[in-house]
This record gives sequence, C-alpha cells and structure tokens, in this order.
Amino acid sequence: MSTITCIEDLRRLAKRRVPKMFYDYADSGAWTESTYRANQTAFEEIKFRQRVMVDMDDRRLTSEMLGQQVSMPVALAPTGLTGMQHADGEILAARAAEKAGVPFTLSTMSICSIEDVAEAVSKPFWFQLYVMRDRDFVIDLIDRAKAAGCSALMLTADLQILGQRHKDLKNGLTVPPNLTPATLLDLATKWRWCFAMARTKRRTFGNIAGHVKDATDLSSLSKWTASQFDPSLSWDDVKWIKARWNGPLIIKGVMEPEDAERAVDAGADAVIVSNHGGRQLDGACASIEALPDVLQAVGSRTEVYVDGGVRSGQDVLRAVALGARGVFIGRPFLYGLGALGEEGVSRCLEIIRNELDISLALCGLRDIADADLRILKPGSYPLPAEKLDDKVSV
Ligand code: GLV
Repeated sequence: MSTITCIEDLRRLAKRRVPKMFYDYADSGAWTESTYRANQTAFEEIKFRQRVMVDMDDRRLTSEMLGQQVSMPVALAPTGLTGMQHADGEILAARAAEKAGVPFTLSTMSICSIEDVAEAVSKPFWFQLYVMRDRDFVIDLIDRAKAAGCSALMLTADLQILGQRHKDLKNGLTVPPNLTPATLLDLATKWRWCFAMARTKRRTFGNIAGHVKDATDLSSLSKWTASQFDPSLSWDDVKWIKARWNGPLIIKGVMEPEDAERAVDAGADAVIVSNHGGRQLDGACASIEALPDVLQAVGSRTEVYVDGGVRSGQDVLRAVALGARGVFIGRPFLYGLGALGEEGVSRCLEIIRNELDISLALCGLRDIADADLRILKPGSYPLPAEKLDDKVSV
C-alpha cells in the first residue's frame, strides 16, 4: 500500500485485510442504506469561508467533553464487534485513544470485556450500555463499569430492536465466524487477521459470555439481539439507570428536539445526535442535519455531540462550527484498526487532527473554541426548523 494520507486509504486497506463478514458489518447501513449515505453527503454540502492573510501561528485544538480535557473535540464511538476487525481490537483502540488524548467508548457488544480494557489503559474510558431484558445483567454491567473506573456511561436509546442490514444476513454473520466453505476461502486471503486472532483468547462477546442467563447462542447477532434486548425501554428507565450509575450520563441516538428535552429532563449530562450511523431507521435525515434543532432545544442546558458520516477533520470542524461540543467517530477508527491494528487507529486520529488543524487555520482561526457559524458559507448549512420557517416567510 502506498502512503496512507486519508481515512479512505485506511478503509481500502481494511477491506483487503478484514474478513468480509466483519468488514461488511461495519461498512453498512439499514435497508436501502439511504441514511448511511446521507450522513456523509450532508457534511460535504456544508461549505467553509476561506479567509486569508490572518496570523495562523500557534494554534489550539484542545477542548473539554464532560469536564474532561481532550486534545481535540473528537471521541471514539462505541462500535460492536470491534475485536473482530482485529484481534483484541478494543484494547488496541483504547490504547491509541489514550495516547492521542481523546475519549474511548467501549460497547456492551464488544469482544474484549470492560475488565480487559481497564487493565490495558491507565486513564478512565467511557462505557456504552445496551439495556437487556435481564435487568440483573444490566445492573451488573453498570456496576462492572463503575468498578473498572469508567468516567461516563453512554446509554444507547435507538437500538432496542435491530435495523436490518442485508449484508449481515447474506454473509451469515456469526461471532466467531462459522467455518463454511465461503468463510474459509475468504479467511485464506486474510492471513494477518487469522494469525493475530489465533494468538488471542478473546473471540466472543467478552461482556456477555458467561454473564447473561440463557444466552447459549451468542453467535447470531440479529437473533440474539431480538431475544435479549429490551424493546420496552423508555424514559422512565433512565432514572434508575442514572441512580445506579451515579455519574455522568450520555444519551446516544437522539434526533428530535422533543426527545432531546426528555433526555435532559431524565438526567442526561450530554446527548449525542445520532442515527446510529444509518444502521437503524433507514430514511431518517442525516445526523448533522438534525443537530441545529437539538442544539436549539437543549444546547444551553447540556452538552450536545454528534456522530455519523464523519470522515475527515473538515467534518469535525463543520460539526463544531454548527455548535457540537464533541464529534464521535466510529467507522474511521474501525478502518484504521482493520488496516493496521493500534497503529492504524493512531494514524486515523493523526489524519483527523491534521486535517482539523489545517482547515481551522485556512478558515482564519487559531483556536477551535472560536469556531462557529461565521466560518461557514450562509445557505450551505442546516438551520433549526424555526429559523427556516422565518426564512420561508420573509
Ligand atoms: C450495534 O451497535 C450495531 O449497530 O450493530
């Protein structure tokens, strides 16, 4: 592979190195994938105002998320099956995030367990919670995250039932992979992945195996989710979750202002505007388009983050200029991980940092804290619905 200069290079390399069923798992959206695609294209439509002849020396990207110092307003999103993109993937990604000074969020559906990751890093990470029907297990997960020193709990609100991703069904996604002739043929070309996987003992859902009652068949994610995830989860549950956790709580998956208000009323310290990377409700708008309405509703009361479709530092800058306090990346770091392991995640973060830094300067700013709507071309960025109505009526 020639020099890696962008996230797309990492994606291409990951596609060559990661078994097809796991690469496809990450790189897909629900149903027609229209929302998955929209997340990225909506970012591209937002244009910067190029400024010149301003002193660009001595720039600053440092910021704060949930009271925690971050070297740039970027965090690693929770992603399921990360340890199937590369052996021990969650440990490697958490280490790379720690070195880069950005938060790492461990998914409930991870391969490495909470305790595995806690042992591998020296600073607290964040833990993402899925709520299962087995409430004792959920309570146990919250307690395990607390015992591991996690500094924030992220409750995912938009996945009580799983959106259908066609490729997972067609590939017969299982963890670990079932050794069918097609899988064996694919694995034969992914020798790096196989060697690393042969050397680790972490090959199933580390947080779940051996903890959930009646979870005999963890392998088929869609069947397992359907039988274990609690479809009755509601705002009332946030109160007991928050009380049990007794620490900073982020609610992820909020797209509408009324849900953002309910999240904050229920005790959220931050919300993530997210459509789950286009993996749930196909036909939902791009998450960056939903950001302004959510900011208008709760931006003065809570921190508002966004994820979905971020592929560059320019996208991070666009989101921050629109008012996001932090930006979560999922697929970009998974591509890095699948391509080059820990080094690939570090490379992903370096690429994004460098792009963010240079773009900030070319917009005429030296401090990310000063990035706001003034660096964006009027008419090219999404506005809150209320403002849009004003515009239409003038
Ligand atoms: C889980 O978070 C998934 O999107 O598959």
